[in-house]
Amino acid sequence: MRYRRVKGATEKFEILSRYITKGAEEHKGRWSEVFGNGKPVFLEMGCGKGKFLVELAKKNPQNNYIGVEGQEKVLLRAAQRASEEGLDNITFVCEFLRHPEDCFEKDEISGIYLNFSDPWPKARHAKRRLTHTRFLNGYKKFLRSDGEIQFKTDNDDLFDFSVEEIQNNGFTLLELSYDLHNTILNAREVTTEYEEKFKLWGKKIKYLKCRV
Ligand SMILES: C[S@@+](CC[C@H](N)C(=O)[O-])C[C@H]1O[C@@H](n2cnc3c(N)ncnc32)[C@H](O)[C@@H]1O
Repeated sequence: MRYRRVKGATEKFEILSRYITKGAEEHKGRWSEVFGNGKPVFLEMGCGKGKFLVELAKKNPQNNYIGVEGQEKVLLRAAQRASEEGLDNITFVCEFLRHPEDCFEKDEISGIYLNFSDPWPKARHAKRRLTHTRFLNGYKKFLRSDGEIQFKTDNDDLFDFSVEEIQNNGFTLLELSYDLHNTILNAREVTTEYEEKFKLWGKKIKYLKCRV
């Protein structure tokens, strides 16, 4: 799906172009060329304003990171953040990806992050959930066999749905928590914008890590 234009966006995209990759499908199998090296590439679907991914990229210069975000205005904030940090191991894709498997080649991605994904509560919209079987089958096509999917949410229904989908699709659960920030799991260390907000409101964060 193409993104909606916002005022002044063309100029902003120009200024931040170093951090924005256009036409994700054209880069299938060639993401190492985007980064100019063969370091492992990690993907966040629906990265929002980029707090989580920029922090990860800063902490892990040995890896590359791709943030996908369909909302132009939000994505520009993420790119701005990466630019302020002067990072060279992160890029953003401004698209609502419905078939991420069209953008990444087999074994091209070393890990996937799904953080506070839109819950799409209506049953007729279930296929849009990023943990729906349709997406999980897509991830299998490009996630390395030792790669992991990490998922965080505040939403009980989406979490229960996701645990079921993950188990029904042959993934192995490696970590699971219904209250991440009362554990010692590493996943609590780097937080997202939504996570910070929900923590402040006293909401419990649900979390899982799995592997194919
Ligand atoms: C609830 S927000 C969470 C943002 C961020 N991950 C966080 O935790 O702060 C979900 C974001 O995912 C984006 N999104 C949802 N489905 C997407 C898709 N298929 N491709 C790209 N972005 C998507 C939405 O535009 C929205 O900004």
